[in-house]
Amino acid sequence: MADKKTFYITTPIYYPSAKLHIGNTYTTVAADAVARFKRLTGYDVMFLTGSDEHGQKIQRIAEEKGVSPKEYVDEIVATIKHLWEVMDISYDKYIRTTDDYHIDTVKKIFKKLYDQGDIYKGSYEGWYCTPCESFWTETQLVDGKCPDCGRPVEKAKEEAYFFKMSKYADKLIEYIENHPEFIQPESRKNEMINNFLRPGLQDLCVSRTSFDWGIPVEFDKGHVVYVWIDALSNYISALGYNNEQEKLMEKYWPADVHLVGKDIIRFHTIYWPIMLMALELPLPKQVFGHGWLLVDGGKMSKSKGNVVDPEILVNEFGVDAVRYYLLHEIPFGSDGVFTNEMFIKKTNSDLANDLGNLVSRTVAMVQKYFDGIMPAPKAKEEIDDELIKLALQIPKKVEESVNKYQLPEALEHIWTLIKRSNKYIDETMPWALAKDEDKKDRLATVLYNLSEAIRFISVLLASFLPTTSDKINEKLNVELISWDSLASFDGTRAGSKVQKGDNLFPRIDVEKKLAQLEEIRQKQLKEIEKANQPKMKPLKSEITIDDFDKVDLRVVKVLECEPVKKANKLLKLKVDLGGEVRQVVSGIAKYYKPEELIGKYVILVANLKPVKLRGELSQGMILAASTDDDSKLFTATIPQELPTGSQVR
Ligand code: MSP
Repeated sequence: MADKKTFYITTPIYYPSAKLHIGNTYTTVAADAVARFKRLTGYDVMFLTGSDEHGQKIQRIAEEKGVSPKEYVDEIVATIKHLWEVMDISYDKYIRTTDDYHIDTVKKIFKKLYDQGDIYKGSYEGWYCTPCESFWTETQLVDGKCPDCGRPVEKAKEEAYFFKMSKYADKLIEYIENHPEFIQPESRKNEMINNFLRPGLQDLCVSRTSFDWGIPVEFDKGHVVYVWIDALSNYISALGYNNEQEKLMEKYWPADVHLVGKDIIRFHTIYWPIMLMALELPLPKQVFGHGWLLVDGGKMSKSKGNVVDPEILVNEFGVDAVRYYLLHEIPFGSDGVFTNEMFIKKTNSDLANDLGNLVSRTVAMVQKYFDGIMPAPKAKEEIDDELIKLALQIPKKVEESVNKYQLPEALEHIWTLIKRSNKYIDETMPWALAKDEDKKDRLATVLYNLSEAIRFISVLLASFLPTTSDKINEKLNVELISWDSLASFDGTRAGSKVQKGDNLFPRIDVEKKLAQLEEIRQKQLKEIEKANQPKMKPLKSEITIDDFDKVDLRVVKVLECEPVKKANKLLKLKVDLGGEVRQVVSGIAKYYKPEELIGKYVILVANLKPVKLRGELSQGMILAASTDDDSKLFTATIPQELPTGSQVR
């Protein structure tokens, strides 16, 4: 027997830097629908997904949490795998860039590229944020400041290896022009050529020394492989390229499609092909860049508090309602929008009304008029032809749409059949036929045709809404679920028993559910707020009451206050300490105008050894509380008048 045709599809590997949201979920759900469809239509499929686990950001998060980077990624990867289970993702392999075999491949690739002169040592110039210990590129800065903490950054240099991208640019332009299907949609192709390739490619920084959570460069200790060589190689290391895993390169490479979000198309259509050219490997057949799912007109972000959690939706509405929305609402190559209201309304109209009603009405009528036993078709009429003809046409249309990754269009085709079937019920009026004993054969035919149309729908939906398809098969006792069975309109078995069961998609009370979801969101926001509260600095070591007693704290009244010349942080205060006037210099000029302090009762460390600050004598220290980053500060004050010199204990 001839070998099966193969199909290799990948998703990007996800950063385990936070819990995934519904937007991230999109790529994987779309890839899953395509992978299932290809299996159904006879392909030997390899569907790869995974996680991209190295880098400075992961290292920092782990440090903040007080765990090792590996412990941290293990924990998040478990949540990602759990999410894919919840979303019914049928991946064949899950790759982690911390897997030994992947590390092996990357080390060998890096060495080969270096040995053949494609990688050279140079220095990387960027912006450095000292408190965060991180390098940033000009474009990563936010208002010229560190994108993580918002503090000022300094120019800095670091030794690094670079990949000579420019060497392969002409060859790549030629390849892209000769293979119009390589970058899809077409608009993305023009963007890559005109905005990046033609103006000239900069060499890519491929190693770093300022952090160590990465794959070491074996021949130069202190360097770790930086981002893209590590991440992109996953597509071939998973197939056993240069490692001990099962050798699958011959079978599956080149990939049929890398499905990626629009933000990473450049890496997949420029850096990755150039890497492959340097490794003398064929390029993937296609890189498909999909649009984004937007919320409130923009990106989902934790800080905006508008992150939509797919698991909450699955728990409330079932996995297929979520899959349907994702697969239907992101049009070919452009962005889609998510709102709870649109989601609920779409679930009600397309799933509960169109699909759910068609199935429940049909099953209910077979039960009512034929005791739940599927009748055989006996009295065909002309009106049936339109439905049958349409059903027989739809599979090919769906296949064409999926092959172009136009998934919303594929679903639209299936819905044409669903809607036509509902119309067929209205046209044939089975309840009227049931009243007339002479029309029993006609009634049997109508219900058989409806059931067969539903069988078609179920097979067609199997890749998109697998759980729903299984439920339909159970209700109608469908046995023929192969793609080939859609070649003729006679696969429903007369004599089989149908079962009513629960509604596929119960109708949702829009207002009530919206209110519930809003309640959940508010709860989440509170949790985020709590989690974002700055961590308290660790307490100092314990002291005895005698130690404390050494510090003499007294109430003083501020008599005078003025700035210290040429020291913009300092204020000079004259304070009354039980009749004695003291001068204190305090670094609080950023927070108080001198006149705001005059007349206030504050607390003085009265027995602190006097010092000179900027030439001014300071006899003690005023107590104040501040945030860790010094963005806020308040002096400790006594709310009401108290004799100056009173002790604070
Ligand atoms: N680690 C890289 C990919 C390396 S692939 C060799 C990465 N990871 S990611 O976790 O940031 O993103 C994973 C995928 O989620 C990307 O395809 C990205 O475009 C997609 N999405 C992130 N937010 C999205 C939406 N709001 N909507 C749709 N997809 C989105 O990038």
